[in-house]
Amino acid sequence: MSIDGDYFEPALSRAQEHALAWLESVPDRPIGPRRNVADLSADFAGPLQAGPLDPSEVIDELARLVEPGLMAMPSGRFYGWVIGGTLPAALAADCLVSAWDQNSAMRYATPATAAIEETAARWLIDLFGFPADCGVGSTTGATMANFVGLACGREKVLADVGYDLNAHGLTGAPRITVIVGAERHASVDLALRYLALGTPVVVEADEQGRMDARSLDTALQSVGGPVIVCLQAGNLHSGAFDPFEEAISLAHEHGAWVHIDGAFGLWAGISERLGGLAKGMTLADS
Ligand SMILES: Cc1ncc(COP(=O)(O)O)c(C=O)c1O
Repeated sequence: MSIDGDYFEPALSRAQEHALAWLESVPDRPIGPRRNVADLSADFAGPLQAGPLDPSEVIDELARLVEPGLMAMPSGRFYGWVIGGTLPAALAADCLVSAWDQNSAMRYATPATAAIEETAARWLIDLFGFPADCGVGSTTGATMANFVGLACGREKVLADVGYDLNAHGLTGAPRITVIVGAERHASVDLALRYLALGTPVVVEADEQGRMDARSLDTALQSVGGPVIVCLQAGNLHSGAFDPFEEAISLAHEHGAWVHIDGAFGLWAGISERLGGLAKGMTLADS
């Protein structure tokens, strides 16, 4: 059998039918899954096949077994975490991405995906009002976005004291102090561990989880050497924003790098109604 459109068509058609059936069920179905991991693992527990199966049957069986274990996250009735629903063009484009199957590591090899990424970067800079020359990278999520922003800060604050991190590595480098609010997201601590930056200095937050700028000031005055301050746009529980203008100005007075965890709150910056919450966000370094 040749590898052409006909080869894929039956399984793809079945997948499309199952996808549409799922999307149609989302408005009314119960939010929670009906079966737990142990139940589902038992459902999947058949032996590994010795040979190929009919692709359409594989898709049908997958959809049948998976359906009772799905959480209706795209529903407006799902309040579990901050999860965005998808849009028709985005979902359809995501299917195309799998079909195109590009290994987008190099511009010359995969120019279309490179151009899409660059365009998205330009649009985001424009949308948020970031400086036109700022760098943009796509990550797998906010944990890795925090990791990348904090990695940039790590390199810069060490360079500021004359230490070349890329040349000499972290062993023997001057100690970096990272200051965070008491209600930062746990992924910040994880990113700091990945970066070998240890446990951060924690400053107080108010009852909404907003960093207290006076406590930040006190912390900044008590630490010496390279400093990174990590702020938050949108507390997971209350939606509160750290006081960016005041905190960033204090941190910059001490030569600190300022990173903002903008996991979902970043988008407030483009809202007429909520934009005030993100005021000063563009003054941060990452
Ligand atoms: C404020 C904040 N930061 C970071 C994260 C981690 O995001 P991700 O799961 O995309 O790594 C979350 C997730 O909810 C979050 O709310």
